[in-house]
Amino acid sequence: METVEYRLPDGFNPPRIRLPRQQTAIVQDAEGKGTIRHDQSLPVHRLEPHHVLVKTVAVSINPCDWKMPSKFPTEGARIGCDFTGTVIAIGPHVKDRWNGSLALGDRVCGGVHGSNPIDLESSSFVQFIAADANNLLLRLPEHVSWEAGAVLGAASVSTLSIVFDTALKLTGTPEKPLVTEKPFYVLVYGASTNTGTMALQLLKLSGYTPIATCSPHNFPLVRKFGAAAAFDYRSPTCADDIRSFTGRTLSHVLDVITDARSQMLCGNVFGRGGGMYAVLELPDPESPVAKRRTVKTEFVVGLAAIGKEVALSGGYERPADHRVQARSAHDFAVVQRLLDEDKVRAHPAKVISPGGFSGILEGIKILRDGGTSGEKLVVFLEETAEK
Ligand SMILES: NC(=O)c1ccc[n+]([C@@H]2O[C@H](COP(=O)([O-])OP(=O)(O)OC[C@H]3O[C@@H](n4cnc5c(N)ncnc54)[C@H](OP(=O)(O)O)[C@@H]3O)[C@@H](O)[C@H]2O)c1
Repeated sequence: METVEYRLPDGFNPPRIRLPRQQTAIVQDAEGKGTIRHDQSLPVHRLEPHHVLVKTVAVSINPCDWKMPSKFPTEGARIGCDFTGTVIAIGPHVKDRWNGSLALGDRVCGGVHGSNPIDLESSSFVQFIAADANNLLLRLPEHVSWEAGAVLGAASVSTLSIVFDTALKLTGTPEKPLVTEKPFYVLVYGASTNTGTMALQLLKLSGYTPIATCSPHNFPLVRKFGAAAAFDYRSPTCADDIRSFTGRTLSHVLDVITDARSQMLCGNVFGRGGGMYAVLELPDPESPVAKRRTVKTEFVVGLAAIGKEVALSGGYERPADHRVQARSAHDFAVVQRLLDEDKVRAHPAKVISPGGFSGILEGIKILRDGGTSGEKLVVFLEETAEK
């Protein structure tokens, strides 16, 4: 492969770096379908002082990697949000958060806004990534594998930062957990998802008592991640069972799934006083839960945590919000500490083999066809990568 020497922006360490002239990426065609392209530019020209340049080792596949291209097809936009890899260059302002401790060669994981209609080059399914080191980035301690790093990425923590702070307005945090005599229940509907198991862990560490819905074969999984009780969302008595377990006191629900069934069920689980309902897909204004006047619904778009405009449409758009960005940066620093202390763990990974860029296309297809339960799909860019 032909390599060239790039001069990095002022203050970067190293000042010059030898890299391939072009790189491979998954890029949308006119219909939004992902295609493998070997002619893509490197992100050297987009490096900002708070960025690190990362050589990608593995990626995880998120539902948004097929949902966004199909809802908002943008020819030429690169796909992919989460990644793990090695730091190969560091910007001069990175020390702000890390106090100089982030070093060349460190293993990190993080996230970017892939499938971005106004920033086509922003993506993770690519060999080299310019990533914000002060937000949406975690350093992997030795005990965290590459697979786990890919699963951790940034999608779940960034989304939950907005869910807990803006949508559910929870005051307990892992640094200052809620102190209560009686359990403060929070229901996570769809708790066996990657987002769900991270929510269970962070809620528990913040002093809440998370309870879960998922399929019965995932009850052991959600209990392992901190659920005090698990309920089968397909059971006809599920809402009654939750109401009776919580003594009709439930006031906070995170609905990771937000389909017709979940909105029907969640309309029946709140206590008499209603409460806060955070949803991760566009809610139906005619659903039973939307009609409960005492329940406040908030649709969270996790990409807003990046702090830049989310230029989608139909309810998915968000303005640049620096308060949300600052809170996310704070929450990533908190999760870094929890990760270092082995207090949070990644959702189980399922590695797709063979990997590489065709493995990524295969993973997107598996997810689109509804194919995972209690596992996150991970793809190594190179088969030989250390696992
Ligand atoms: N708005 C945002 O910013 C944002 C951010 C992150 C994720 N999300 C959304 O959150 C959802 C989960 O994402 P993820 O990456 O965390 O998922 P994931 O780990 O890929 O989710 C897989 C799990 O989803 C559950 N599931 C699938 N369909 C279901 C249904 N109809 N009812 C109940 N459970 C169902 C399955 O649970 P069982 O096998 O136990 O039944 C399975 O274990 C996706 O819809 C995604 O688009 C949105």
